[in-house]
Amino acid sequence: MKAIYLTKQGDAFSSFEQREVPKPKAGKGQALIKVEAFGLNFADVMARRGMYKEAPPLPCLLGYDVAGTIEQLGDGVTGFSVGDRVMAMTRFGGYAEYALTEALAMAKIPTSISSAAATALTTQYCTAYYASAYVTNLFAGDSVLVQAGAGGVGTALIQYAKYKGCQIFATAGSSDKIEYLKKCGVHHPINYKSQDFVEEVKKVTGKNGVDIVFDAVGGKSVKKGMTLLNSGGRLVCYGAADLSDKNIFGKLKSVLDFGIYHPLFLMMPSKAIIGVNMLKIADNKPQIIQHCLQKVVDLVDKGVFVPEVGQVFKPAEIGAAHDFLEKRKSIGKVVVQW
Ligand SMILES: NC(=O)c1ccc[n+]([C@@H]2O[C@H](COP(=O)([O-])OP(=O)(O)OC[C@H]3O[C@@H](n4cnc5c(N)ncnc54)[C@H](OP(=O)(O)O)[C@@H]3O)[C@@H](O)[C@H]2O)c1
Repeated sequence: MKAIYLTKQGDAFSSFEQREVPKPKAGKGQALIKVEAFGLNFADVMARRGMYKEAPPLPCLLGYDVAGTIEQLGDGVTGFSVGDRVMAMTRFGGYAEYALTEALAMAKIPTSISSAAATALTTQYCTAYYASAYVTNLFAGDSVLVQAGAGGVGTALIQYAKYKGCQIFATAGSSDKIEYLKKCGVHHPINYKSQDFVEEVKKVTGKNGVDIVFDAVGGKSVKKGMTLLNSGGRLVCYGAADLSDKNIFGKLKSVLDFGIYHPLFLMMPSKAIIGVNMLKIADNKPQIIQHCLQKVVDLVDKGVFVPEVGQVFKPAEIGAAHDFLEKRKSIGKVVVQW
């Protein structure tokens, strides 16, 4: 099979190499998927830049999201048949013509959804569902701030917040993305390049601020987000994109910029910071991943979750796909189609 290896850390255009390698075999509890499309995640960019601790040693296959048909089932897998169209989370290995997944991390593709769109529903939508339904339990009337709202996870968070009847603030870094946020039903889109998001939120809420902040940017974005939290507010910290384009001193500054928070000063105003890392959840409680994936499918069926495919690339364009995501040009999901 063809597989696209990350052979070194660095630039998007010179770090990948397509190789011919043997097809893997499904072990106990696993499925082998003939991949129609695989998705990119911002974590792939971090891995290429050498900033993703969980990434396998080089040369390696990245890739968390695939969609395609089941080619082979390992022992003990029930509820699926060879030939089923499925989407799945892969623990790396997705950048290939065939990929292995744990059956727990696989679901049939809803009929209305293309394989390209299905790749968004696994990691990005499951992360968003876990963050907004599982750990923060959004309620009607909650005010929510979504950082990087036009991205893959951001789009899913906005769709869930809209479904729950929340007042939605979301940030993005270009006028195209602001137009997209308006189309998504965001009540208060904020272009953080020309507006200060704290000031813009406060213009609407007064000193009350918001109930929930979803932040995957990190650095001073977290510290500023904390100043916006109401009593009872939660800040979900699930990424650190701010670290990605900095030298060692810039990274150190970004880490310090997050701020330091003593539990007493969270308890007294009744505020919480919640860290989310789906890989750790998958290690510790894989049934939560299965639950989130099933809920995501249910919400697609209800028309709540509608994945947005920003751009589809060919396998030979993997460098361009990475560059597109890294340079913040993408809206929604970036996909590679075999
Ligand atoms: N913790 C977890 O388990 C988990 C799971 C999935 C994803 N994530 C994290 O969630 C975030 C979103 O992931 P995604 O795959 O959906 O990506 P994405 O949001 O589609 O793309 C990243 C976006 O982040 C914004 N951004 C802000 N600062 C940036 C910077 N310094 N460099 C590059 N982009 C920057 C850009 O939007 P603007 O142009 O609007 O700034 C960019 O388009 C990432 O940080 C990712 O690592 C975490």
